[in-house]
Amino acid sequence: MRPGKVLIETDDIKQRVSELGEEISRNYHHEKPVLVTVLKGGVIFVSDLIRELSIPVELDFVSVSSYKKREKAAPAKIVQNLSGSVAGKHVIVVENIVDTGSTLNRILQELKDRGAASVEVCCLLDKKCKRKVDVDIRYRGFIIQDNFVVGYGLDYNQRFRNLPHIALLE
Ligand code: IMP
Ligand code: MG
Repeated sequence: MRPGKVLIETDDIKQRVSELGEEISRNYHHEKPVLVTVLKGGVIFVSDLIRELSIPVELDFVSVSSYKKREKAAPAKIVQNLSGSVAGKHVIVVENIVDTGSTLNRILQELKDRGAASVEVCCLLDKKCKRKVDVDIRYRGFIIQDNFVVGYGLDYNQRFRNLPHIALLE
């Protein structure tokens, strides 16, 4: 298995990330949101995204393991939690891809339990057709079809995260 056809070009990612950054900056101009990034895949996205923001932000990270078998939504477990408090703070969860929604659902529940004042989601890719758990996505880069993709943080067995574009795995 290796990366094949390019699904989203580097320049198109850059353009869209910049638009998302502008939109977030506009909506949070009076706040200092905490960007909670989902490890490991979200690091590339968040590092580009924050450089498109004109507002101050805090960063934090969570890591979630899912016992996902192909096509099935399984309960996701938080294996590395936030380092700081989110109580009373406005949180934006930064995730590179939402598939069944179970990972995100677990994170949203945790953030609510910890007393976040508000929680919104920013994802680069949305595999909408695969959704099993309903999650609200406020900021979305691209909707994609049911294909396995790699690059820009997304891996196949920990490989190909470093590709600058999004490619289909072939
Ligand atoms: P969910 O819990 O089913 O929404 O799955 C989300 C997680 O599955 C993401 O954080 C990714 O780690 C992984 N994932 C889902 N689709 C893809 C893909 O096409 N390429 C690489 N990883 C994926
Ligand atoms: Mg993965």
